[in-house]
Amino acid sequence: MANTYYLIVFQALNMFRIESKIKTGSPEFQQNQAEYKKLLDQFRENLARIRQGGPAQVVARHKERGKLLARERIDLLVDRNTPFIELSALAAYGLYDFGFPSAGIITGIGVIHGKEVMIIANDATVKGGTYVKETIKKHVRAQEIAMENRLPCVYLVDSGGVFLPEQASVFPDKYDFGRFFFNQARLSSKGIPQIAVVMGSCTAGGAYVPAMSDETIIVRNQGTIFIGGPPLVKAATGEEVTAEELGGAEVHTMISGVADHLAENDVHAIQICRNIFESIQRHEYQSLETHPIEEPAYDAEELYGILPIDLKKPVDSKEIIARIVDGSLFHEFKERYAPTLTTGFARIMGYPIGILANNGVLFGETALKGAHFVELCTSRNIPILFLQNITGFIVGKQFERAGIARDGAKFVHAVANANVPKFTIVFGGSFGAGNYAMAGRAYEPRFLFMYPNSKISVMGGEQAAGVLITVKEEQLKAAGKTLSPEDRDKMLQTILKKYEEEGSAYFSTARLWDDGIIDPVDTRKILGLAIAISQNRKYEKTQNGIFRM
Ligand code: COA
Repeated sequence: MANTYYLIVFQALNMFRIESKIKTGSPEFQQNQAEYKKLLDQFRENLARIRQGGPAQVVARHKERGKLLARERIDLLVDRNTPFIELSALAAYGLYDFGFPSAGIITGIGVIHGKEVMIIANDATVKGGTYVKETIKKHVRAQEIAMENRLPCVYLVDSGGVFLPEQASVFPDKYDFGRFFFNQARLSSKGIPQIAVVMGSCTAGGAYVPAMSDETIIVRNQGTIFIGGPPLVKAATGEEVTAEELGGAEVHTMISGVADHLAENDVHAIQICRNIFESIQRHEYQSLETHPIEEPAYDAEELYGILPIDLKKPVDSKEIIARIVDGSLFHEFKERYAPTLTTGFARIMGYPIGILANNGVLFGETALKGAHFVELCTSRNIPILFLQNITGFIVGKQFERAGIARDGAKFVHAVANANVPKFTIVFGGSFGAGNYAMAGRAYEPRFLFMYPNSKISVMGGEQAAGVLITVKEEQLKAAGKTLSPEDRDKMLQTILKKYEEEGSAYFSTARLWDDGIIDPVDTRKILGLAIAISQNRKYEKTQNGIFRM
C-alpha cells in the first residue's frame, strides 16, 4: 500500500518535470548554437571595451592622481565573493561617437555587510564624470529600483555635473538632473539610507548629492563640494579662491559641516563607508515560502542552441523554462487551453514564481488565460516572470468582431495593476501591444533584461514596410499615380534597414529601455537575486479596476 502511495507521488512529481524535446546533436541545434556564440563573443567584446572607461591617457592620469577607477572602488566596497549585478552596462552604447562608455556612470546592486545596496558611481575618466541624457536616466533608474526594493544607496561621487553642451536635454524636465535630489529626499523619508562618498569633484547641482545624504564621507586633497567652482566665483564676484579653499575636505569636515567623515584616500573612504553599514539594519518585509534549491535538469548552455536568432523560428517556451527553473519542475496552468501562452508555477533558487511565456501570437482566449493567471499570482502573493517572444495580438476581421481589443485589454489591465514584483526577460521579439501585455518597460517590472539576440520595436521591419508601402500606394492611387517597382523596393530596403538597426538589443540598452543585456546562462542567478531583493519591501495588495466584459 505504502509503495503504491509513493509510486503515485513520484509519478505526480515527475509529471511536473518538463521533458525536453530538443535534440542537442541535431544540425539545426548545432548551427543555432554556433551562431549564438558569435553573438555572445560580440557582446563580451562590447562589454570589455566599455569597461576600460574613458580614453587610455585619461585613465592613466586618473591613476597617477592616486585615485581608484570606478569599478575598482565598487569591488572594494562590496563584500568579498558576493555578486554585483551591474545594470545597463551598455548605456549610451554607440551614441556620442562612442564617447560615453556606460554613459559615464556605473550602477548596480552589491552586498555590503550582508545587506543589498544600490551603488551609483561616477566614472571620472569619461568626460570628467559629467551627465548626458543617458547618464541621468541611469542614475534616476537606479534610484527608482532602490525605492521599489527599499535598497540603501551609496553614491561614489566624482563628477563635473551637467555635460554643458547637452544642457537642454539634461537640466529642466521632470526626470532630469533635479530628480536626483527629489529622489534622495523621498528615499530618506522612507527610511532608506543615503550615503555619499565624495572622491572627486561635486559641482553645482551635484553638490546636493552629498549635501542631501544621511551621511557623507570626503577624501582629503581630492574631494570638493561647491555650488559654484572657482571660475564661476571669479566671474560672479571677482573673488580668487582655490578649489580646496572653496570646498575641500578640510573645509567641509571642520568649517561648513557639509561632510561628516574625513578620509585620507579612496581605500580609507570605502572602509568608512563599509563601517557605516554595520549600523544599518536589514529588514525583510515580505517573506516567501522557500524550498531547497535544485539545479535545472537541463544545462543552461543549451539555451544557445534553442533561442531564436531568426525570429521566424518558433521556439517552445517550455524549453526555456526547463533551463531556468529549479529541477525543471513546472506546474502548468491550463496546459491544454490557449497554448500560445504558457502559464504555470515553478521555483527559482528556491523562491516561488509564476511564469507567463509566449509561444506564438496572442488570441482573445490567450489574453483571458494570461489575465486569469496573473490574478492567481497576485492573490497568492507570488512574483511573476514574463518571458517575452511576442509578435503581438492577432489581427483580422474575425478577431476584431470577436472583440480581441476587449480581451487584450483585460490582460493589459491585470498586468498593469499586478502589485507583486514583476520581472521581464525578452528572449526573442518584443513587438506591438504584446510588449505591453507581457510587462514591457511601461508596466513597471522591477527589472527588465534583454538577451543579445532579442529585438524590440513597435512591429517587425517587414510588417512596418508592408504598412507604409500600402499607405503610400493608396495615396498615389488617389492622385491617379502608381508606385514604381524600383521605388517600392527602395522604400522596402530603407525601412527594413532602419528597423533592423533600431530594433536591436544594443539600440534598446543604449537608451535605457531595459536594465541591461545579459548572457542567457546568467538568467537564473540574476532572477534569484532579483526575487531575494524584492523581499525588502512588503508586496502591496492588488486592486483591479473595471475589466471590460
Ligand atoms: N561640461 C562639459 N564638459 C566637461 C565638463 C562639463 N561640465 N566638465 C569637464 N568636461 C570635459 C572637459 O572639457 C574634458 O573634455 P576633453 O577630454 O574632451 O578635453 C573632460 O571633461 C575632462 O575634463 P578635465 O578638466 O580635463 O578633467 P579633470 O579631471 O582635470 O577635471 C573636473 C574634471 C570635472 C573637475 C573639471 O573638468 C571641472 O571642474 N569641470 C567643470 C565643472 C562645472 O563647473 N560644472 C558645472 C556644471 S553643472
